[in-house]
Amino acid sequence: MTTQAILTPRATVKTDNDVILRTVGLTKKFGALTAVNNLNLELRRGEVFGFLGPNGAGKSTTVGMILGLVAPSAGSIELFGTKLDGNSWPLMRRVGAIIEEPAFYPYMSGRDNLETLSRSIGDVPKTRIDEVLKRVNLFERAGDRYDHYSMGMKQRLGIASTLLRDPELIILDEPTSGLDPAGTKEVRDLIPQLAHESRAVFLCSHLLHEVELVCNRVAIIKQGVMLANSTVAELTSHGQLLYIKVENQTAALSILKSQPWIKSVKTENGYLIVDAPGDSAARVNQVLAENKIFAFELVNKAASLEDVFLQVTGGNSGD
Ligand SMILES: Nc1ncnc2c1ncn2[C@@H]1O[C@H](COP(=O)(O)OP(=O)(O)O)[C@@H](O)[C@H]1O
Ligand SMILES: [Mg+2]
Repeated sequence: MTTQAILTPRATVKTDNDVILRTVGLTKKFGALTAVNNLNLELRRGEVFGFLGPNGAGKSTTVGMILGLVAPSAGSIELFGTKLDGNSWPLMRRVGAIIEEPAFYPYMSGRDNLETLSRSIGDVPKTRIDEVLKRVNLFERAGDRYDHYSMGMKQRLGIASTLLRDPELIILDEPTSGLDPAGTKEVRDLIPQLAHESRAVFLCSHLLHEVELVCNRVAIIKQGVMLANSTVAELTSHGQLLYIKVENQTAALSILKSQPWIKSVKTENGYLIVDAPGDSAARVNQVLAENKIFAFELVNKAASLEDVFLQVTGGNSGD
């Protein structure tokens, strides 16, 4: 594979031309249910953006609105700097999306399927088919029948089909759902390589691990509301936890609980786990020492995205 993944934004000063997708106050109501609630998103060229949330959070509804398949109840969507209205199909040609299992002819080869699809799209250069087959690592197996492909291969052919138009935005809605572990890995490994300077990837997933591994920016959504929107590194750096071991845990617990600047304290596996500002280890230690409690172990541990996810959604990760 020759494709070089370029994940870092290419310049520090961003222009508006870099914004591929923007939603402003995007809202969708189904009767009394607000599936998507006042969503403000921005996706830039070169980014792999993770749209993370439990089942029913409103991810697919958001994708439906971006693709013009679901009418928003309020708010607006801009694609490539142009506001979507009723007549946006020229913009949609610049978007490749897999929103459900792609439909292919089972008895035809992967290559023949792509050729058939290319003819129906029109304007696809001949060389593009080899290119996209190589991109998804299917070149060697392109002559095999589709119904002989593994699940992972089928999904990769689906991704290849979205690349035929060389889209600037790729939307993948739960691309590994229904795949076995091997297929999941095949697809996951491919995702970062889909982004390059002129393209962005919008990945919807309820799987934390998937998003953590391949995305540079993440929004967390629950019940239609966006709870966090940041880089993975920033999200996890907020949740620094201190792991402390002391002789008299009960006394230490009540002392730390009485400190207003400490967000929370709990005990787990013989440790006191303190959620406090990142640089507060010395302060915690001092408070304990003043009360004649001496820590014999004090470790700063960055929270994982899972910790943050659980913290902000107050639910389980669904993994
Ligand atoms: N066409 C529809 N009519 C009524 N309710 C819907 C419709 N589509 C989705 N919903 C509801 O909207 C909420 C968000 O669904 P969805 O966007 O599919 O979530 P996700 O993709 O994050 O799992 C859910 O409660 C779902 O039941
Ligand atoms: Mg969904």
